[in-house]
Amino acid sequence: AEQGWPELHRIPHPPRRIPLLGDVLGANRATPLQDSLRFARQLGPIYRRKAFNREFVFVWGADLVADLADESRFAKHVGLGVANLRPVAGDGLFTAYNHEPNWQLAHDVLAPGFSREAMAAYHPMMLDVAGRLTDHWDRERAAGRAVDVPGDMTKLTLETISRTGFGHDFGSFERDRPHPFISAMVGTLTYAQRLNSVPFPALLRRAAQRNEADIAYLNRTVDDLVRARRAASGDGDLLDRMLETAHPGTGERLSPENVRRQVITFLVAGHETTSGALSFALYYLARHPEIAARARAEVDRVWGDTAAPGYEQVAKLRYVRRILDESLRLWPTAPAFAREALEDTVLAGRHPMLRGAWTLVLTPMLHRDPAAWGADAERFDPDRFDPKAVRSRPAHTFKPFGTGARACIGRQFALHEATLVLGLLLRRYAFVPDPGYRLRVTERLTLMPDALRLHLERPEVTA
Ligand code: HEM
Repeated sequence: AEQGWPELHRIPHPPRRIPLLGDVLGANRATPLQDSLRFARQLGPIYRRKAFNREFVFVWGADLVADLADESRFAKHVGLGVANLRPVAGDGLFTAYNHEPNWQLAHDVLAPGFSREAMAAYHPMMLDVAGRLTDHWDRERAAGRAVDVPGDMTKLTLETISRTGFGHDFGSFERDRPHPFISAMVGTLTYAQRLNSVPFPALLRRAAQRNEADIAYLNRTVDDLVRARRAASGDGDLLDRMLETAHPGTGERLSPENVRRQVITFLVAGHETTSGALSFALYYLARHPEIAARARAEVDRVWGDTAAPGYEQVAKLRYVRRILDESLRLWPTAPAFAREALEDTVLAGRHPMLRGAWTLVLTPMLHRDPAAWGADAERFDPDRFDPKAVRSRPAHTFKPFGTGARACIGRQFALHEATLVLGLLLRRYAFVPDPGYRLRVTERLTLMPDALRLHLERPEVTA
């Protein structure tokens, strides 16, 4: 980064730098994001950190991030963790460089897969998968066992994206251990994160071999899935679009190699972060029974006793949605995104950047900037997202789904799925945490509450 920032010396860095290694004091290989948050608190809204001989600039001040959201001067940068996923996801939507033609092609072909009509068609499948979760949780409650929240949310969201997008059933709820697809995925995400903590990839030779095997497993799974579909026919889901839809303007289609990249991208991006978002929301609901009671009252009022709420009834859960937003504010499960300068420019009128210079936006800190969120920004309070409060805040202060042309294509999908599931769970269970549980956050590029178990009880009848 240093070449691109002519006045880098004006950007603060940690005081004690170690020759050759850089700012590694107190750093923990397993929690790079939480280390960065710690530095952010010490050093302020823009700072730099050196790892070996590379220098990285981090930004989180609300005015700086608002400027970085200007699409005429800045764009997504594929760097660090995201770039490390290129061997798995290649020029798939998430990891494509802006200039790669397959980005626009796939974006235009797949965007209709996230329209209102498409979402309404996914809704019954989402409901069906949620039913498998509640069957499982009913059994656990009856047996007096606590449930493994992140584990079960991952089963739910994987089955949801694979059913709705690809007509595929991983059978997650019928297994005691995670599906091998999940283990391979966790392996590649963790490896991509670890690559940032060593000066040369060669230092991770053994891990690299395991990573090769994980990628080979992911490719095989996806190739089987595609082969099965070519032999049968789908119902217009994402996979059908990938295989059959020509670009409306150019008539071009995705190549078989690109389809493989997109399927992996959607299976991973389509469930890992939603699983974390649901898990954090359940953590906060268990911590705040009064908020859970208010949400439950809304579900009862809006849904009545319909066993199967319809598509339209999900968006009406305004308060449940605010709980999700507030969870994504404190723990945005894709916790950073990178922006690069499209031309020589001056960031927020203060920091000159040359064309191609880039910086990492730390979303969890942006979401805690007192300038935007007030002095009590650390407190969980869904009312921050009531419409009046939202209107009173400046633009670009809430960015869990990234920004601009490369923002999340699956945002509505995730929000619909998560709101539906929280509504169903609130109606059925009261959540009781282990008394000793303290929130710890695990990182594998994404964030997840570590080892969160909840006891399920019957909710009191409101009315
Ligand atoms: C991009 C977050 C759910 C598919 C992104 C980005 C963020 C994000 C921050 C931008 C990354 C960057 O700028 O480098 C989230 C969160 C989710 C979620 C927090 C859940 C709560 C989903 C779902 C899908 C999905 C459900 C698919 C069904 C994608 C794809 C991209 C993306 C394909 C790349 C878009 C592009 O560059 O054109 N997501 N996401 N995401 N997300 Fe999501």
